[in-house]
Amino acid sequence: MFAAAALFVFMCLTATSHADHHHHPCHTPNMTGLMSVTSLKGELKAVGAFTYDSMGRKLRFRSNESHPVNTSVGLDLLMFFDEGIFYEIDSKNQSCEKKKLHCSLHPLDIPDDAKFHSTVHSGSPSIEGEGLTLNIWTGDFTDSKGHYIMSVTMGCLPISAHYFSETTPFLISNMEVEMEIKDPDLLLVPSFCQGLPLEETPEGTVNSFLHEFM
Ligand SMILES: *[C@@H]1O[C@H](CO)[C@@H](O)[C@H](O)[C@H]1NC(C)=O
Ligand SMILES: *[C@@H]1O[C@H](CO)[C@@H](O)[C@H](O)[C@H]1NC(C)=O
Ligand SMILES: *[C@@H]1O[C@H](CO)[C@@H](O)[C@H](O)[C@H]1NC(C)=O
Ligand SMILES: *[C@@H]1O[C@H](CO)[C@@H](O)[C@H](O)[C@H]1NC(C)=O
Repeated sequence: MFAAAALFVFMCLTATSHADHHHHPCHTPNMTGLMSVTSLKGELKAVGAFTYDSMGRKLRFRSNESHPVNTSVGLDLLMFFDEGIFYEIDSKNQSCEKKKLHCSLHPLDIPDDAKFHSTVHSGSPSIEGEGLTLNIWTGDFTDSKGHYIMSVTMGCLPISAHYFSETTPFLISNMEVEMEIKDPDLLLVPSFCQGLPLEETPEGTVNSFLHEFM
């Protein structure tokens, strides 16, 4: 666990730019949708609903407890990437933890320093309604220790993100995405979370969206 955390710090700090001058990553729009997180060992880690504000760079993700899987994690996260903080919310007992976000990598937007890889046609490119054209973007965590591959539609809706590291490779897929914020209240800090002090981060711990599943 410690090693994984240490590795991730490194990955976050060294996600260096290989920016292709001809292709800059698109930025995703405001969205509401469903997300699933599966480890590449076949464990379903979480399924839940997300709300994403692309301008404000805010993300809410709540895993659905009626998809109980042995390995799944019950999560309610509200992340503010610009401020570098997030909340772990427990609505049942109205409790909340406010924490520092160490790494802003997340599956709903392409990092600015991602590298364009290719355009692919899933399904059939010639039969109407039977194909999907995707742009693939990649980025390195370190020279060889990890990388991600993200695919987005031509309109920049995120389809999937693969995170490959030495520790826990996993796949995040998005479904039923709509280009609007259906419930803006989900992006507001709940009253019972307001005014909380920032939790201290134990030495060696890294907080990020991805770390919630590691
Ligand atoms: C995205 O949502 C935010 C928050 O509701 C809103 O301020 C912004 O105008 C929206 N952007 C677009 C392009 O609709
Ligand atoms: C959770 O999943 C169940 C079964 O798929 C669904 O009926 C329910 O609406 C979901 N709840 C939420 C909050 O998404
Ligand atoms: C749940 O996972 C734990 C550890 O991963 C394992 O030891 C246990 O056998 C699993 N239980 C079931 C019911 O699959
Ligand atoms: C809220 O519930 C969670 C688990 O259900 C527990 O870990 C936490 O300590 C509880 N918090 C409070 C303030 O009761």
